Amino acid sequence: MESKFKRTLVTCALPYANGPVHIGHLAGVYVPADIYVRYLRMRGEDVLYICGSDEHGVPITIKAKKEGVTPQDIVDRYHRIIKDAFTGLGINFDIYSRTSSDVHERNASAFFRRLYDEGKFITKESEQYYDTEAKTFLADRYITGTCPKCGNPGAYGDQCEKCGSTLSPEELIDPKSALSGSAPIKKKTTHWYLPLDKYEPWLREWILESHKEWKTNVYGQCKSWLDGGLQPRAVSRDLDWGVPVPVEGAEGKVLYVWFDAPIGYISNTQELLPQSWEKWWKSEDTRLVHFIGKDNIVFHCIVFPSMLKADGGYILPDNVPANEFLNLEGDKISTSRGWAVWAHEYLRDFPGQQDVLRYVLCANAPETKDNDFTWKDFQQRNNSELVAVLGNFVNRAVVLTGKYFGGLVPEDLGSEAIDAETLAQILPCRKALEQYMETFHFREALKEAMNIARIGNKYISDTEPWKVAKTDMNRTASILRTCLQICADLAIAFEPFLPFTAEKLRGILRVGINAGKDHRSGEGAPTVNFYAPSEACALHTGEAASQDIVLGWDDLGRSDLLPAGHALGEPVLLFSKIEDAPIQAQIDKLAAIKAARQAAEAAKAAEEAARKVEPAKDEISFDDFARMDIRTATVLAAERVPKTDKLLKLTIDTGLDTRTIVSGIAEYYSPEDMVGKQICILANLAPRAIRGIVSQGMILMAKQGDGKMRFITPAEVVANGAVIS
Ligand code: 2FM
Ligand code: ZN
Repeated sequence: MESKFKRTLVTCALPYANGPVHIGHLAGVYVPADIYVRYLRMRGEDVLYICGSDEHGVPITIKAKKEGVTPQDIVDRYHRIIKDAFTGLGINFDIYSRTSSDVHERNASAFFRRLYDEGKFITKESEQYYDTEAKTFLADRYITGTCPKCGNPGAYGDQCEKCGSTLSPEELIDPKSALSGSAPIKKKTTHWYLPLDKYEPWLREWILESHKEWKTNVYGQCKSWLDGGLQPRAVSRDLDWGVPVPVEGAEGKVLYVWFDAPIGYISNTQELLPQSWEKWWKSEDTRLVHFIGKDNIVFHCIVFPSMLKADGGYILPDNVPANEFLNLEGDKISTSRGWAVWAHEYLRDFPGQQDVLRYVLCANAPETKDNDFTWKDFQQRNNSELVAVLGNFVNRAVVLTGKYFGGLVPEDLGSEAIDAETLAQILPCRKALEQYMETFHFREALKEAMNIARIGNKYISDTEPWKVAKTDMNRTASILRTCLQICADLAIAFEPFLPFTAEKLRGILRVGINAGKDHRSGEGAPTVNFYAPSEACALHTGEAASQDIVLGWDDLGRSDLLPAGHALGEPVLLFSKIEDAPIQAQIDKLAAIKAARQAAEAAKAAEEAARKVEPAKDEISFDDFARMDIRTATVLAAERVPKTDKLLKLTIDTGLDTRTIVSGIAEYYSPEDMVGKQICILANLAPRAIRGIVSQGMILMAKQGDGKMRFITPAEVVANGAVIS
């Protein structure tokens, strides 16, 4: 790869430490980034791979409050879960740190202070919601109310999660503080703003003219932001969780989370490489690539670059390959609604099957549009692609070699044209794969790797060595030798995508691989990774740990990777079939989550409906009221009116007489409920026939907004016929 760059710095969006990571995060950001980094390293590039937890922001404080713990407790919990999940999936950053670290606090603070001292900010006074009970300004997330767009009573001041609308707190109907439940007031406050409008001409030139190669979704979003005109953006907040604004008189103010989080990339680099970090951030021969989801585009393409430009000492991203969103079984993935497949739970439920998830998430990655993850598709891709194509080919080749040649790579004793023709198909796959990798088309790149397996599968099916072996061992030798070369190609091609499988395959083939250099050990020379087959991704600095054969990326497509006589290892299965039961268990789990959510929503809606109050009626005179003869009475007998659902026929003692009233309360009361109850009636209502029964009066009922009715009864039993006035 010819390039003006000497090294590549890859960052992955710092996940919020307010929940575990889910398949949407993995498919959008971390799996593609990991594939890319592994690929570049195999190609001999010097790559630094940075991530960490984003531990500030209001959702963390809200969660802490809800659980009655501190924000630090929350971030400690999720930082650990997220970090372990990444490791479990083979996503091995050089450093996975956190924005609550001291290094970050110092670095973010100094970054702000530099811009402040150089007059890069403006200050503005504005009116913001303030909770007088909790005595604090309310961040948008702390304000809830009714969504003006869809009527959802639980919308937030920045967004309605029901209809997805972006909102401002001012738009909410009947706003309430999420802290105290009280109605907030407006109060003046002052904040620092980065005047993005000043950077607009430069951003237009830098992105729209110089980065036309960015992905269409990224370029398009940037263009529409720029065409819409940029406004100054507040970089501080009134909050007590975050990096304090390092300016006198800024008590109670912290850096806005989207100001401090991207600086976290720099802080984490400093933490890992305190002596040499500047080379990665300040040297024009470093190529910076941010892997993010589409909701982060504006921050990484417009806001953070403007911050870096304002500082003046940093390089800018060369590319920002953002993905769209992954949905789950047709619904938007949502941490707050619990609609997700969590990485750590997947690792628990599908032990040893990390690569199946990596495969499915890459094969179905939302690279150009939102995509859907379904468990059925997951099962199908495992069973009919990984098992049936890749696993099956390798297994047939290795098992037959064991059977006919004692597990030794055979000599080329009976070659035919098809052998060379088949092997010649691999190099074009490699070239296409490289082309796709370098333009961030990982789905297509994976297809090319898979094509190599398909080529192998077709070859072994066409040549049928199990039949040939009955008559021609020389030809069988050449066929299996060709198959084993393809297996070695697969061990190289799949290393970026399926590192656990590639390792198993190396064990079967008894080869090592040169996976490039990483920086996990910090300062000093980068570690050269020769991944031996038998030791799960153990690092062997500088040499190949007694492996005779060490493959590298440049070997992919060569036809002589395994010499005759090379002894293979145990023919373990690369993949196993996933049966219906574990898939159904996952589907059932989601169905239970959906049912619980629907029940909660229905209960909430019913509660809202019940609280709805009918508008007041027109005024009447006292005389109007006095004309109504309202009295107490007792139900003597009750029965359902035949062939109706709603009507009860009640015999009542009114104190004046015993009479019949037909009332539409059977939905709410059975006849047994009513007998003996003291009620209130309108006694002088003109009699009328209902279903052939003459009803002499009306029972007074209280009717809620949802239509539910309850009869009215005196607080204590009084004589029948007592007049109510
Ligand atoms: O969207 C998110 O999950 C953010 N926590 C990403 C931050 S990326 C970077 F700026 F740190
Ligand atoms: Zn809404």
